[in-house]
Amino acid sequence: MNFHFFQDTASAVTHAYLISKDLCTGEDNELSESVNQMLELAKQSDFKGSAGSVICYPSFSSDGPSWICLVGSGSESQDDLRQAYGGLGYELRERNLQSVAVFNVTEVELAATAISVGNYRFDQNKSEKKRKKALLDCYLQTDVNDAALQRGLTMSAARNFARDLINMPPADLYPEVLANFASELVTDQISVEVWGAEKIISENMGGITAVGQGSSNPSRFIHLVYRPKGEAKQKIGLVGKGVTFDAGGLSLKSSAGMQTMRCDMSGSASVLGVFKALGSLDVDVEVHGFIGAVENMCAANSFKLGDVLRMRNGKTVEIHNTDAEGRLVMADCLAYASELGVDKLIDIATLTGACMVALGSRYSGLFTQNDDMANDLLRCSQEKGEGLWRLPLPEFYRPMLKTDWADVKNIGGRWGGSITAALFLSEFVDGPDWAHIDIAGPAFFDKKTQYFATGGAGPMVETIFHWLES
Ligand code: BES
Ligand code: MN
Ligand code: ZN
Repeated sequence: MNFHFFQDTASAVTHAYLISKDLCTGEDNELSESVNQMLELAKQSDFKGSAGSVICYPSFSSDGPSWICLVGSGSESQDDLRQAYGGLGYELRERNLQSVAVFNVTEVELAATAISVGNYRFDQNKSEKKRKKALLDCYLQTDVNDAALQRGLTMSAARNFARDLINMPPADLYPEVLANFASELVTDQISVEVWGAEKIISENMGGITAVGQGSSNPSRFIHLVYRPKGEAKQKIGLVGKGVTFDAGGLSLKSSAGMQTMRCDMSGSASVLGVFKALGSLDVDVEVHGFIGAVENMCAANSFKLGDVLRMRNGKTVEIHNTDAEGRLVMADCLAYASELGVDKLIDIATLTGACMVALGSRYSGLFTQNDDMANDLLRCSQEKGEGLWRLPLPEFYRPMLKTDWADVKNIGGRWGGSITAALFLSEFVDGPDWAHIDIAGPAFFDKKTQYFATGGAGPMVETIFHWLES
């Protein structure tokens, strides 16, 4: 998608005007006569300017645009504007409209990101005639600000890249392929190291080894490093869950529960999305990405209930449910990140259905004992319009992980499943300030949500990149 700036006129198939709630109720406005006539018509139906609502009219003019779109921008708050531009991007794709001129753009970065994210579809597996046409040219009426546009495009490219990885069918995206995508992110500032299954065994990563052993697609451990141009202020670790398909293992999921489990590598997709952004925009910290890429399959050589795994940090784990696999993979990555001496560590995972039960599909759960990290991440998520909600991490639930047979077991009790999962992870963090983000809800939408097409959403890419910057 190409973005252009214009001041007076732009020859585009579609012209789009943002219409606030106030504009819908007020008498006078600056809109041209023809657009005003359309607004009057729109108001007679049920258009009230609510954020993200889009109404399009054919213009019937021989030299002007073919379509005029009125886009509700609500109160014109950041959230409402994001919804408006996203809604426009989404609707243009629905209508196969490939060029648009958007008038009076005040927030270039936000507009570029939301339009591109709303316009995104994963339709390459549909036959040509069933695909909708992507937006090719987007003209923004604004005082030129190239930096803001660059940032907007970088963020949407990073996020849509993560969505592509999530949406790819599991036969197309297995651990080796995920590692290849990581390797393609190499620049003079980003390096990538990939370990195969044997190396993972010899490096004592008992969790990654056990979860991946039942699959004919061997596991990978991926370590990315971004180095800033100047001196690094801090060393940051990002761990992403990379279960490219979660069948549940011997604790097999139902068909319904398994249907979208290609999304179980969304955490790693978000980490790779952040590194994609680091390929175009500089931050002043060193960033390490860690991904355990595995398939959790039900097979003759799967790991078993009652097995005791020895993890990277030496702790032992008794298996009570092979479907609680993500935490085993994450554990080795967290232990390895701790060894490398990162100052701050964030992990991102589609870890528990319980987190979805608690927070629904628009909030990720945030777990940390560090109030500063919590507040920074919550602020960043708010500024980027991503739902994030802090949940408790109380020590008094830790005994739920006790077992007679090993240091811990891999599940807690019946209740508080996302909390006991977070407590389990904490057993493998030693040193850095740490926060865990459970993205089970917002990783994958079963139907269109806000301006996101069905499927992978690439949560937390923008929030975490913003956090790295600040
Ligand atoms: N990948 C799932 C969690 C999940 C569920 C993510 C739904 C997105 C949507 C995870 O590996 C899992 O299966 N967790 C179990 C844990 C249980 C066995 C303690 C769960 O949530 O049921
Ligand atoms: Mn599972
Ligand atoms: Zn899983």
